[in-house]
Amino acid sequence: MSAARHVAIIMDGNGRWAKARHLPRAVGHQRGVEAVRTLVRAARDMGLEALTLYAFSTENWRRPEEEVSALFALLKRYIQDDLQEFVDNNVRLKIIGDYKSLASDIVCLLEDALTRTAENNGTTLVVALNYGAQDEIARAAKIAATKGPITVAAIDAELDTASLPPVDLLIRTSGEMRLSNFLLWQVAYAEMWFTDVLWPDFTPDHLREGLNAFANRERRYGGR
Ligand code: IPE
Ligand code: IPE
Ligand code: MG
Repeated sequence: MSAARHVAIIMDGNGRWAKARHLPRAVGHQRGVEAVRTLVRAARDMGLEALTLYAFSTENWRRPEEEVSALFALLKRYIQDDLQEFVDNNVRLKIIGDYKSLASDIVCLLEDALTRTAENNGTTLVVALNYGAQDEIARAAKIAATKGPITVAAIDAELDTASLPPVDLLIRTSGEMRLSNFLLWQVAYAEMWFTDVLWPDFTPDHLREGLNAFANRERRYGGR
């Protein structure tokens, strides 16, 4: 069994983490960012090729405006605070999802971060932002159709993830066992690993636990 090159995570449970401590949801999201920061450093040190994190879905707009603004404020601060660290440590940033329709200050910040890390060739940190897999597939199919016959390879080539290695392992925290419109196409043959740990409590040791479970799986891809 070869090691995982690309791990994708549905970071879930910030709200429940806060609720259990009688704290505002925003505090759960704040602690969630700390978990992200620590995990990105660990992924980089482990030499993982790509780490994709589901940060905001196309469905998350259904949340109260106050929570949505808090989430984007945290994202903004995270990128501002950690960009130099990405640059210094060879981390390449990539965004998947319809991020160009977000507020212009966020788009500017992201594009600057993308440009400044574009030449890095260590771990790729992929942030799924305003991301919905159905939206991604529809956008990809639309572009593919202008270029020729719609085949699996043609759609693959137009997905937001086109330049990334295949997703080997999908992790979801907080005990939920659903995909919530994340990477529907890309997880066709990914291994899945679920944990009850709430996202703010997720540590590099949990990632290692998931990677160990992955290492013991037998992948068959329909063969025998
Ligand atoms: C995950 O935590 C963060 C985002 C979806 C942005 P939640 O906010 O979904 O936390 P729960 O599921 O309510 O506990
Ligand atoms: C999925 O979590 C989206 C992100 C982690 C960004 P949700 O908490 O939004 O998913 P549902 O609503 O429980 O399916
Ligand atoms: Mg949730």
